[in-house]
Amino acid sequence: MKIGIHDLEVATTHYVLDLDTLAERHGIDPKKFSIGLGQDAFSMPAPDEDIVTMAAEAADTLLARHDVSKIRQVLFATESSVDQSKAAGVYLHELLGLPANVRSVELKQACYSGTAALQMAVNAIARTPEEQILVITSDVARYALDTGGEPTQGAGAVAMLVTANPNLVEIEPGSGFHTSDVNDFWRPNDSTTPYVDGQLSLDAYLTATTAAWDDLAARRDLSIDDVDKFLHHQPFTKMARKQLAALAEHTGHELSDELIEESMSYNRALGNTYTASLYFALTAQLHNNADLAGKRLGFFSYGSGAVAEFFTGVVQENYRDHIYPEHVAKQLGNRVELTYDEYRTLHSDFAATSETYTTQPTTHAPFRLSGVTEFQRRYEAQ
Ligand code: HMG
Repeated sequence: MKIGIHDLEVATTHYVLDLDTLAERHGIDPKKFSIGLGQDAFSMPAPDEDIVTMAAEAADTLLARHDVSKIRQVLFATESSVDQSKAAGVYLHELLGLPANVRSVELKQACYSGTAALQMAVNAIARTPEEQILVITSDVARYALDTGGEPTQGAGAVAMLVTANPNLVEIEPGSGFHTSDVNDFWRPNDSTTPYVDGQLSLDAYLTATTAAWDDLAARRDLSIDDVDKFLHHQPFTKMARKQLAALAEHTGHELSDELIEESMSYNRALGNTYTASLYFALTAQLHNNADLAGKRLGFFSYGSGAVAEFFTGVVQENYRDHIYPEHVAKQLGNRVELTYDEYRTLHSDFAATSETYTTQPTTHAPFRLSGVTEFQRRYEAQ
């Protein structure tokens, strides 16, 4: 029985900052961002948007095409959680009006946990193939102003429906894993932005993803040449090029950038979307390539700290009948461009408080955060 990603949808934020704007005001050559990092812009939430509103929008569009009574679990992966106890998926469950007989839980391991959620879903469907599972990856990447990470901010969500006999991608059994305790990137409970050792993070990413490939290669009869296209976690798209070059050197195989080119367009425009980044790469590959039926995709998932997984999936025959590139184009095109001063103000005014406040209606998305009362986050449909 085939199990995998049956359908997916994405969402992002109300605002966008063009990296040329940042470069100009910081006195940096814009090519450092466009070529050096491979990034054009990043999404930024309005005060009435967060991981829940983005996830709810993506999932709402997705589920309009499906029978929600079959959904048995909501697995919500994020590292920009809005509560230390309550799972973001519970808010989402209410906003979407899902049945009560559903399990909702949140998963965390930096940018990696979306992959854990996907694999948990695949394993659960193997036991109960008639059921369906909603996997959410949703994150807001906020770095401190005037730091090296600032141009790699971003925000976005990908909602995926995992089922038997999927329309898009069958996830194949057998992964390669790697875990090592590295302090390359972390965000303590009392900080709204992460601490980062930039160079260490690059090294840790390359070491962990290569080790995950080695683990998989030792367990499955799979050569690097059996993979038709590679997908990467892309904190910035140049990272995917760096990883492919490192993998080519490590395996002694020639791996051309054509193997990843079509996976980058959405991440270039969104910035780092943490857990969602790898799945935006998948979305872009499916949307930009008309010739993927029967092809094997290799997924490199990485989360700082650090955990990596390499796994594979096979694109299904009629996948072109089940993709909606126009929805992504609308999400990207509808964003309102920020001036540099507006961006700085929005960044500085970010509310990380549980004291009472009300947000001004800004987002045009179907769900918004209206504020906090009695220390509780309040969401509403609009
Ligand atoms: P930096 O110091 O700003 O940049 O830090 P740089 O000086 O290293 O330059 C970057 C690239 O631009 C270099 O290319 C330069 O040569 C090039 P490279 O040598 O790497 O190929 N460059 C130019 N190119 C063209 N024209 C020019 C020009 N000038 C320079 N004029 C760094 C970069 C990534 C460290 C920083 O942005 C950062 O700290 N980012 C955040 C951490 C990060 O994204 N790490 C990635 C791996 S870890 C990861 O993926 C996990 C993560 O997603 C978190 C999680 O798991 O939760 C981050």
